Amino acid sequence: MKRCDRLIDVGRRRFLTGAGAMTAGAAAASVLAPEAKATPGAALVSYPPNRLANVSDLKVNEPLDVAYPDDEAPGVLIKLGTRVPTGVGPDGDIVGFTILCPHKGFPMAYDAADKTLNCPGHYSRFDCERGGQQIWGHATQNLPQYALRVDEKGDIYAEGVDELIYGRLSNVL
Ligand code: FES
Repeated sequence: MKRCDRLIDVGRRRFLTGAGAMTAGAAAASVLAPEAKATPGAALVSYPPNRLANVSDLKVNEPLDVAYPDDEAPGVLIKLGTRVPTGVGPDGDIVGFTILCPHKGFPMAYDAADKTLNCPGHYSRFDCERGGQQIWGHATQNLPQYALRVDEKGDIYAEGVDELIYGRLSNVL
């Protein structure tokens, strides 16, 4: 079969011309790219130091309902009755968590038998003695835990949260 050299040559020239135009276009785009004007959001937020309760308000292994960092963020304080690494207070056993499940935000319930917070939505479970570590279920993060401080009068203050609370882009609104 006879080749048509003329057509092949025309096609080659068109291809090379198009490649040249694309290179020139990319170079122009990189030179003319508009400057980013948006200011990046702060990576850290300032948490309010809120008084949540007094040590005398807590009973061993009974959660006390609180809210932090604002009234729309329900949580609990729990005096576990056993010293834990993240515990505060005279016995090192007071911890606090959001009760909104990190998976889809269902409010969770405390199980005193094994000191876990449990989700009625899809059954995720979180260990309150181990910093809210997830031990089962659909959630993909541990339970946000409060950073607590107890003053000399026994007042318990929350001063931060270690993970993002469900449904928020920032824990502090
Ligand atoms: Fe809690 Fe789905 S909302 S596991």
